[in-house]
Amino acid sequence: MDKWKYFDITHKHHIICNPMSEEKIDRLCQLLNLPKSAQVLDVACGKGELLIRLAELYDVSGIGVDISPYFIRDSREKHQARDPNATLEFVEMEGAEYVSKISASFDLTMCLGASWIFEGHRGTLRKLKEVTKSGGLVVVGEPFWLKEPSEEYLKADEMTRDSFGFHSDNVRFGEEEGLTCIYTIASNLDDWDNYETLQWNAVNEYIRNNPDDENNAYLVEKMEQSKEMYLRWGRDTLNWAIYVFRKN
Ligand SMILES: C[S@@+](CC[C@H](N)C(=O)[O-])C[C@H]1O[C@@H](n2cnc3c(N)ncnc32)[C@H](O)[C@@H]1O
Repeated sequence: MDKWKYFDITHKHHIICNPMSEEKIDRLCQLLNLPKSAQVLDVACGKGELLIRLAELYDVSGIGVDISPYFIRDSREKHQARDPNATLEFVEMEGAEYVSKISASFDLTMCLGASWIFEGHRGTLRKLKEVTKSGGLVVVGEPFWLKEPSEEYLKADEMTRDSFGFHSDNVRFGEEEGLTCIYTIASNLDDWDNYETLQWNAVNEYIRNNPDDENNAYLVEKMEQSKEMYLRWGRDTLNWAIYVFRKN
């Protein structure tokens, strides 16, 4: 099954495609306190919600990059519906390739929930720092271990212990890269449950509405695996946070 179609189906009801409530996203937007002239880059922008909220709040201009044609379509439609005069551009492209080609530097750079693009959390911080102005902000979203993961969980989810760090590691990595961490927001169980179980709901709904889709068996199998992984281990072992860093 096409990967991006799969995510389009599973994330049909997500406004924010990460385990963070909309209230916390609003708190983050307020905290960023951007000037009107700010230029923002969001790598792996998903459905463009964060960028559009920032444009609505501060009138900033921005670029959202995402590899999914479905999410870029959603972002463009939302831009037109919510704030058509905002200077926003949504680019369908591989994130690392986009960043490797730009010479601009931004007041705010972000990558929430897609650090594999830059080979992990540290690589993401390093790359975003390069394209951020001095005094600007780097915002990343990254999972962290709540406790040591069991071997069984790592094997079942095809991860290693080093796939993620603890919350303190996620802060420390940025500080070792010369950034100053100025704020963090962590998900709670309700945020995680909402993120995970909205996917169960979306798949169930899709199959009911499209009973003849040849992908249905695959969708059910993947969702059952993901449900098992989350309920058995993920919910108690992994959490997720947004980290705000200042480039000095
Ligand atoms: C967990 S979602 C986060 C989306 C968004 N940042 C948010 O928080 O709502 C991960 C996003 O990464 C995008 N993505 C995955 N691989 C990518 C790549 N190589 N380059 C650009 N975007 C990518 C997906 O399409 C998806 O939108």
